Amino acid sequence: MNETIQTILKRRSVRAYESKQIDEKDIRQILVAGQYAPTAMGDQPWHFTVVKNNDLIEKLQLLCKASFKNSDIPSLRELSTRDDVHVFYHAPTLVIVSGDSKAVAPLWDCVLAMENMLLAASSLGISSCWVHSPMIVYGTPEGPASLSTLGLNFPEGHVPYAAAVFGYSAQPLPEAAPRKPDTVTFLK
Ligand SMILES: Cc1cc2nc3c(=O)[nH]c(=O)nc-3n(C[C@H](O)[C@H](O)[C@H](O)COP(=O)(O)O)c2cc1C
Repeated sequence: MNETIQTILKRRSVRAYESKQIDEKDIRQILVAGQYAPTAMGDQPWHFTVVKNNDLIEKLQLLCKASFKNSDIPSLRELSTRDDVHVFYHAPTLVIVSGDSKAVAPLWDCVLAMENMLLAASSLGISSCWVHSPMIVYGTPEGPASLSTLGLNFPEGHVPYAAAVFGYSAQPLPEAAPRKPDTVTFLK
């Protein structure tokens, strides 16, 4: 198995991080990997917001939990009451990929960029976890204004489509869940 496929198979979502920050050169390489993802019509309709400020990450996670209090989803309401849950797992870096909502396929473009970044991070020994909370908050009526109040402003016409935390794992990498069988059809 080649190195690229090994990296794909060994990437896992990590939910406990050391406080040690990622080197600037590593985060920049990860961002370049994101920017080389394919995009519909070659649009590259994205913007990458990198949050390394611990105070801001903390404020954002409190905002997420506060906003989950009114969620229609019972598990999110439950999560909002739990002091032991940090929606960003105390990771030192959060990256949000926003995209121009008027582009051809911005959701897919931004998600592909994020997957490139998760894999690039894994290849550098840096762990990651997709975190959906920023997008959930953004989707609430007061979300965009609340995020803006914290200083999270996206370019004009942009919507956040993908977010993930990055850092060094504070625990051994979890095992991958078994893959579901019978999910492939070959038509010959
Ligand atoms: C669209 C999407 C949303 C996700 N949201 C979260 C999240 O909010 N918090 C979290 O801890 N993991 C989140 N995950 C990570 C998944 O839980 C994880 O990928 C899945 O359990 C498989 O584990 P693995 O990534 O280690 O293979 C999300 C993944 C995707 C694709």
